[in-house]
Amino acid sequence: MGRFFGNLKVRPKLMILHNLFFAILAASVYLALYPNVGPKAALSLIVVLGTIYVLAVLVLEVAIMPLYVYRPLSLMLNADRATQQGDRDHEMIDARLILGDEIGQIMSSRNATILQLRRHEDALEDALRKLEAQDRLVSLGLLAAGVAHELNTPLAVLQGSVEKLVETNSDPATQERLQRMLRVTQQLRKISEGLVDFARVRKQVTEPVPMRPLIDEAWALVGIDEKASEAKFLNSVAADHIASGNPDRLIQVFVNLLRNALYAVQRGGMIEVNSKKFVRNGQPWISVKVMDDGPGIPAEVLPDIFEAFVSTRLDARGTGLGLTVAEGIIHQHGGTISATNRPTGGACLIVSLPANPG
Ligand SMILES: Nc1ncnc2c1ncn2[C@@H]1O[C@H](COP(=O)(O)OP(=O)(O)OP(=O)(O)O)[C@@H](O)[C@H]1O
Ligand SMILES: [Mg+2]
Repeated sequence: MGRFFGNLKVRPKLMILHNLFFAILAASVYLALYPNVGPKAALSLIVVLGTIYVLAVLVLEVAIMPLYVYRPLSLMLNADRATQQGDRDHEMIDARLILGDEIGQIMSSRNATILQLRRHEDALEDALRKLEAQDRLVSLGLLAAGVAHELNTPLAVLQGSVEKLVETNSDPATQERLQRMLRVTQQLRKISEGLVDFARVRKQVTEPVPMRPLIDEAWALVGIDEKASEAKFLNSVAADHIASGNPDRLIQVFVNLLRNALYAVQRGGMIEVNSKKFVRNGQPWISVKVMDDGPGIPAEVLPDIFEAFVSTRLDARGTGLGLTVAEGIIHQHGGTISATNRPTGGACLIVSLPANPG
């Protein structure tokens, strides 16, 4: 009971009012009856009236007021205190304790207001977090564009020199090497141009992107690493799964994912990519899964895996930017990317992109 009335100052005031009211009533009755019926009868009547009055007050104070006034008020006070202290677990009034009267309506309305307030607060916090992430990406984009600008000239010189060598050299083994160098140099230029796009300096060009050949091309670029020749790679992407986007940018995403998978697996490990069509908000989408049978993503990395500089490979020349860039590119395409570990072990990265409507 003390819990319900602990802080209430209503009861003492009511008691003073009751007593005052009774004293006035008794005095009026005594004075009105005394001249006609004599002091004895007047006194008896006052005793009878007093008994009825005490009983009424008892019923009021023991049964009615606690249930309909003191307890609801106390519940509201406790809930308000919890709200002020930011104690979300106790700030809502238990709906089972709310009665159907006017005080109950005030309590329900208060609960609804608090709920709405918390919802707005959560949305605001979420928006702030997104804004911070955007801010970081913008800084990263500026840095990327600056680096790209510096890289473009030496890369153009390198590509020109390799092209010259391709023209003048006829040895087949050297030609093969030179062709590979040329492919890599071209990819470097594309990446460098992509970095400028990352900073959103240039407008994105969107076209239908068949995913299966894109994955093959990405693997060919990752395949420059000698570990790739030992890995078992399986491209199970359906031939008719065509996304909508920029192929040069999307290839960068899958190069990052496949390279991560290749680093993760043991020699001779397995990397598989498959795809699925699905409908999101009434529109066709394609999701592409990159799976490996490595040790999986470390638990401490998983929640922040798309944050910049989050890496377990900082000592092995990793920068922790691969997935940040990948996420940036996928978001620019209006898509989503997520990371999980497979129940059977190994990592699973899922990229979802709007399908080509054609
Ligand atoms: N397939 C995977 N298996 C296990 N861990 C992974 C996998 N892919 C990513 N990770 C974890 O996520 C971290 C972040 O990956 P991310 O590609 O962003 O950076 P990085 O590979 O460390 O460096 P960078 O790609 O910049 O060279 C990795 O360091 C690794 O711990
Ligand atoms: Mg990486």
